[in-house]
Amino acid sequence: MEQQHLLQNYGPRDLTLVRGSGSWVWDDKGNQYLDCVQGVAVNALGHAHPAVVAAVQAQLGSLMHASNLYLLPTQMKLAEELCGAMGMDAAFFCNSGTEANEGAIKFARRHWQDQGKAGKLGILSFTHSFHGRTYASMAATGQEKIRKGFGPLPEGFRILPVNDSGALRAAVNEDTAAVIFEPIEAEGGIIPMEPAMAQALKEAQARGVLLIADEVQTGFGRTGEMLAARALGLEPDLITLAKPLGGGLPLGAVLLKKSIADSIHAGDHGSTFGGNPVACAAGLAVLGELRREGFLADARARAAKLRGELEALVTRKAANGAPWGPVVGKGFLTGFRYGGDLGAFQKACREQGLLVHRAGQDVVRLLPALNISHEEIGELIDRLEKAMVE
Ligand SMILES: Cc1ncc(COP(=O)(O)O)c(C=O)c1O
Repeated sequence: MEQQHLLQNYGPRDLTLVRGSGSWVWDDKGNQYLDCVQGVAVNALGHAHPAVVAAVQAQLGSLMHASNLYLLPTQMKLAEELCGAMGMDAAFFCNSGTEANEGAIKFARRHWQDQGKAGKLGILSFTHSFHGRTYASMAATGQEKIRKGFGPLPEGFRILPVNDSGALRAAVNEDTAAVIFEPIEAEGGIIPMEPAMAQALKEAQARGVLLIADEVQTGFGRTGEMLAARALGLEPDLITLAKPLGGGLPLGAVLLKKSIADSIHAGDHGSTFGGNPVACAAGLAVLGELRREGFLADARARAAKLRGELEALVTRKAANGAPWGPVVGKGFLTGFRYGGDLGAFQKACREQGLLVHRAGQDVVRLLPALNISHEEIGELIDRLEKAMVE
């Protein structure tokens, strides 16, 4: 049935999930898995978090959808709280990461046009990045396999080598509208931005280039901070968020500094579903939890424990000449390099009741819930080790 009526763009899948609670999911045969994929970094609070479920249920019973023709209290509250938490001035809501990046690119170009600089429309990005599957986001994505076969792509995009600060300095000119970057390139292989590159981005910004931080995967607590770009000392002009923002419901956002927001006028952009009250209610519940005193500090401490145990594990295994390590990433966007067959390893993990993801060519990616417990981290290491032996 699956092969007959679902487009086969995701390839064959053979695990049917029917239920989730916290860090655990169950398949249709009753098998239980420790979930370190969490909907690909979406369920920051794990499955079926009571605060998210209660917020969604309450909102469902009052107003499910009304469109952006009207003011919606949950959407206004989320905009206010998000801007407060992220140090930004205005929010535009959409439904996904690619749509957020698409919006940010439009806003950047529109800003310069509004300033009388219509020729300033170049968008720079980096190899190994992933910004999404719609046309502008795809044009900015620095992976040939994502773009191949879909041309012609929109004009004005240029992809530079990642972490090559000299290439960025040389590429920036008066026609450059913006640079879009991931503070840690997640899908492309968990590649962190080096300090020299962050410095070159700051210089570009000082030369009149807008910085668009794609925090779709890194933001909202995943790396232990609200925003990974700030940890690099960057002050983006535009920030894109999605994945965890809606607590499991589709919700994306572009956050803008006032100077950019002032360039966007009625009718310039929009979305029917964006900022849907139910998704925003879920978002408020997630944000409330992330901002609870001690939550992020606690998540950082547990991520540090996971990192220490992962390092000990891969060091132990690599000592036998096996292709494990090093450990990569930050916070709960983590994992380790593996010089073997990633698909086979994922399968071995699954047989041990553990779901893991991959990144780039050779990274086993772990994206646990930010509230995974100490015991569950122990369980994760145990199951990983058994899968490695396998
Ligand atoms: C950094 C980043 N940007 C954008 C996207 C695209 O998000 P979506 O799949 O919601 O369109 C992703 C998805 O993995 C991502 O990791």
